[in-house]
Amino acid sequence: MDVLIEGKKVIKGTITPPPDKSISHRGVILGAISEGITRIERFLPAEDCIRTVDCFRKMGVDIKFVNETTLIIKGAGLKGLKKPETILDAGNSGTTMRLLSGILAGQDFEAIITGDESLKKRPMERVALPLRQMGAKVECTVDGKFAPLKIRGGRLKGISYEMPVASAQVKSAVLLAGLYAEGETTVVEKHKTRDHTERMLLYFGGNITVKGNQVTVAPVEKLTGNDLVVPGDISSAAFFLVAAAINEGSKLLIRDVGLNPTRTGIIDVLLNMGCSLKVLNERELNGEKIADILIEGGGLKGTRVEGDIIPRLIDEIPVIAVAACFAEGETVIKNASELRVKESDRIKAIVENLRRFGAKIEELEDGMVIEGNKNLKPAEVESFKDHRIAMAMAVAAISIKGISKIKNADCVKISFPGFFDILNNVVKGGDADGQF
Ligand code: S3P
Repeated sequence: MDVLIEGKKVIKGTITPPPDKSISHRGVILGAISEGITRIERFLPAEDCIRTVDCFRKMGVDIKFVNETTLIIKGAGLKGLKKPETILDAGNSGTTMRLLSGILAGQDFEAIITGDESLKKRPMERVALPLRQMGAKVECTVDGKFAPLKIRGGRLKGISYEMPVASAQVKSAVLLAGLYAEGETTVVEKHKTRDHTERMLLYFGGNITVKGNQVTVAPVEKLTGNDLVVPGDISSAAFFLVAAAINEGSKLLIRDVGLNPTRTGIIDVLLNMGCSLKVLNERELNGEKIADILIEGGGLKGTRVEGDIIPRLIDEIPVIAVAACFAEGETVIKNASELRVKESDRIKAIVENLRRFGAKIEELEDGMVIEGNKNLKPAEVESFKDHRIAMAMAVAAISIKGISKIKNADCVKISFPGFFDILNNVVKGGDADGQF
């Protein structure tokens, strides 16, 4: 599906972003291996998270949707998963494949997990390596690097693992495998990545100790099912934060946004760029911080985005690059080579598309340099079948006078079904509250 977008717009109203994708996945995973009932409210009914639900159903877990966003999981317990009769399919979802690898490493059966064309090109040795060290047999069946993965769970032993790349998915896989290991398992990170797995393990009765960038999990007899309400996804809110920030005269209230400190790099960057942004009504929801954000448009200047902040905004870089195009002066983004191995090569996708809009942008191996330019022109751009590229380009398109086209934009359903409806509402000054 191609989408036509007319700019240039002012953004007004109130929105509630969709539920957090990372937390929705983890809720299903921990609910499935806990004992008793887990009820998840405001679950993200997007393709990626549904893949996780399907994989656990194939392993015999009873998961029922009460409505589109509420589900009830009858936990199978740590040892209760069944050998799937068919291949598990993670679709486009790296989180499903990598986190499930950690769970499968601890099972007493062999399973195969595959994915779509994009996922089959993404690096999987990063997860296979530590799981093998723990004692599992993990085969990356294509070139020894890529999915399908064949995993034969073993008698695992705890390890201490220093992460060679900043990846919450790899960290989570090792910690989840650690639930099944003999002795403690420790993960040490150079740059702290999102810690939803650690927080949720605690919430489900796990034994987790965090000391700075070091996390240790010790095996427990059981995890206990618990009720969860999923906060709004800051990575989805980010598209609307930037849409409001770059269009002078805009004013948007975004409600119930998850503000886990490992995810809030986008807020720091927008504040550094001189954006008018206020965090209101801070509170806590099952071990995660949430708040409302009030943002007004105009007056952005260029900035530098590099180092420790990168994992705190890795998924937001496509839309930060869009913000940079509308800011005064230069923005430099570095140390972000992980973008090369996301759902698409996001550095290439951003550079190619933003150039089509007339942006001045230089490609770096690990990032980009963008010179702000107010005279952008409408264009036809590609999603590269990558949800975050499609949405970032839609944000650019509504901010440029004329009609632009985003090709293959239906991929937004991977993380944000209803994205274009909400965008249409706020450009009309409407209220998109209650969409989720
Ligand atoms: C995620 C971790 C990040 C992020 C992805 C979701 C998670 O990936 O980009 O969208 O839920 O753990 P990496 O672990 O590859 O950095």
